Amino acid sequence: MTSSVPTPQELLKIATDVARDAADTAYRMRAEGVFVAATKTTVTDVVTAADRAVERQILDALATLRPDDSVLGEEYGGSAAGEAGSGVRWIVDPIDGTVNYLYGLPHCAVSVAAEVDGEVVAGVVRNLYTGEEWTATAGGGAWRAGERLRCSGETDLGQALVATGFGYDPRRRAHQARVVAELIPHVRDIRRLGAAALDLCLAAEGRVDVYYEKGLAAWDHAAGALVATEAGLRVAGLGGLPAGPELLIAAPPALFPPLHDRLAALDAAGGP
Ligand code: IPD
Ligand code: CA
Repeated sequence: MTSSVPTPQELLKIATDVARDAADTAYRMRAEGVFVAATKTTVTDVVTAADRAVERQILDALATLRPDDSVLGEEYGGSAAGEAGSGVRWIVDPIDGTVNYLYGLPHCAVSVAAEVDGEVVAGVVRNLYTGEEWTATAGGGAWRAGERLRCSGETDLGQALVATGFGYDPRRRAHQARVVAELIPHVRDIRRLGAAALDLCLAAEGRVDVYYEKGLAAWDHAAGALVATEAGLRVAGLGGLPAGPELLIAAPPALFPPLHDRLAALDAAGGP
């Protein structure tokens, strides 16, 4: 089966082609006026008509190009693999940073990752306003605009600019805010930019030093975490666990242990 699996570079080419068209659609639809189609987990967790239309466009493109692959997307969930079962699964966030999109804040992205036998091997994150595009393949490095990316060389957590985010559930947000309140005296500052995929890509090029968040779904981090890892960040959860819904920490090797220990002490993975 795996003999027919494309290389990570070939999968990345498909991902970038699909993500560029998707970003164009999302940008055009925003210019035409944003339309809230529904709310999801809470009243502030919105889905716009564009979230759905863009994911549908990506699903259709992938179904044409790779009919035997399966897909996991934020809006339409998982699709079964084609009958041949290719071993490839695409993980899609049509618009990461939906609240920014709603408000016209130019910080949202399309994220497309390709997983082979359960391991993410290629990923692209494209800011649909600026056209900035981060890519990575497993073992092939992380890139933007032809430059290979390297994470921050900061070694002192007290000097670190820390990106994080909040979930939509009010009780979860309250817990996350308490963690931030205890963390902020020990770091340079906090950034809440509103798109997890972009947070990871900014960390990949040292535009923030570290990023952590509780409650992410696979589509939020699949592509961005590969970009971060390939740029030298350590991406993991607490206590040697892989990054997951409980917590994702992305930090340069020297900053990972002190950030990890502080987040563990603050019960960052706990709460609702
Ligand atoms: C959200 C954003 C946000 C993060 C949330 C995510 P969405 O994704 O990535 O930055 O803090 O946890 O759910 O809803 O904009 O696709
Ligand atoms: Ca998202």
